[in-house]
Amino acid sequence: MTAKTAALSVDGKSVDLKVREGTIGPGVIDIAPLYKETGMFTFDPGFTATASCESKITYIDGDQGILLYRGYPIEQLAEHGDFLETCYLLLEGELPTKAQKADFDYRVTRHTMVHEQMLRFFHGFRRDAHPMAIMVASVGALSAFYHDSTDINDPTQRMIASMRMIAKVPTLAAMAYKYHVGQPFVYPKNELDYTANFLHMCFSVPCEEYKVNPVLARALDRIFILHADHEQNASTSTVRLAGSSGANPFACIAAGIACLWGPSHGGANEAALKMLEEIGTVDRIPEYIARAKDKNDPFRLMGFGHRVYKNYDPRARIMQKTTHEVLNELGIKDDPLLEVAMELERIALSDEYFIEKKLYPNIDFYSGITLKAMGFPTSMFTVLFAVARTVGWIAQWKEMIEDPGQRIGRPRQLYTGATRRDYVDINMR
Ligand code: CMC
Repeated sequence: MTAKTAALSVDGKSVDLKVREGTIGPGVIDIAPLYKETGMFTFDPGFTATASCESKITYIDGDQGILLYRGYPIEQLAEHGDFLETCYLLLEGELPTKAQKADFDYRVTRHTMVHEQMLRFFHGFRRDAHPMAIMVASVGALSAFYHDSTDINDPTQRMIASMRMIAKVPTLAAMAYKYHVGQPFVYPKNELDYTANFLHMCFSVPCEEYKVNPVLARALDRIFILHADHEQNASTSTVRLAGSSGANPFACIAAGIACLWGPSHGGANEAALKMLEEIGTVDRIPEYIARAKDKNDPFRLMGFGHRVYKNYDPRARIMQKTTHEVLNELGIKDDPLLEVAMELERIALSDEYFIEKKLYPNIDFYSGITLKAMGFPTSMFTVLFAVARTVGWIAQWKEMIEDPGQRIGRPRQLYTGATRRDYVDINMR
């Protein structure tokens, strides 16, 4: 069978470009030779039609609302798996055997403490610092504390840095929370599992016994699974781009956290909850729907829409169920925010504007209500996203570093600025 090609002609020059097929999903036209052959670049701001890399980790079918990690549907992993098992799967490509799982859990657990000097680093922040600001800085600062795992060319150091980040990012996240609320830091307790330990570090205080609620721990674990990876989203692409220059893994993950903070990405869970609080009551929903549709109003319904999903975000479905489980467990009936959320969802899903633009609730729409009910302040929501996504970033970074064809990421541009001109002395301007 002859290989499929795509023909392109421009300025009298023709070029046959190779078409590459994936295992599922759309194929790609390999435009790497285009500039050499035609002297032109392609133009795709926002990368709406550009595959930036080859990957075997996560697959999304946005039209069907399908999300697979290493081929496994998110629904099955969220129902039957746990977060560390998902981490292993994303990193290693296969579900672990019992022995592999026990070994992995053990290794992550043994890395949960952070260097004691990190505590002093934390004390440099103002008490009102946003916990995401603390996360960007403290994860980046890990490279100053763990010099022995920054050589990206050494597979053992890469592995140690990966384990360190999966284990220490929750500890740093809990410390950011404790610092924010003015309580003492709580050291990790290694007899607890990953997520229970995180709840313990966030919510226990030295003066009282704290018992982890297993329903809440399971719900949070599921939230972590849902957020663990999402192919080449903005923060993951940031991690890959930062990593492509050879930067150390801690610095790369800090770059990903910085990108995640934005309200169009991970910051949307915080923004969605603030929006629900601002709407306040069901009778005010039409006003906000009208604003979302108004071209002259920058307001958007936070937690709605997605670059890839043009159908219900499969994570949002699981999230909605988890929200109900958490509220039931905590005995929260008639939560006004949930009432606004459900009605907003109902109205938006039947509104012509949202139907036509295929704007469905995304994962951030329900996660905020759940996290708030668990006791997290809104400023922590994106931090929790970062805790979960750390493994996805690491898996994608590792895949890139291990690719023998890896080169520095260096996009080009369409220049529309001034053409060459001569310097004018300041007295003559
Ligand atoms: N409310 C109202 N209108 C919207 C919304 C919204 N939430 N989202 C998109 N639109 C409209 C937008 O105005 C545009 O209309 P038109 O074609 O008339 O100009 C059209 O839908 C397409 O929007 P876009 O901005 O071109 O789409 P995008 O793929 O560049 O942006 C998005 C995707 C997620 C940034 C956007 O939908 C958005 O801002 N949503 C709210 C923020 C949010 O919930 N983000 C979380 C995403 S999921 C978690 C994650 O990945 O981190």
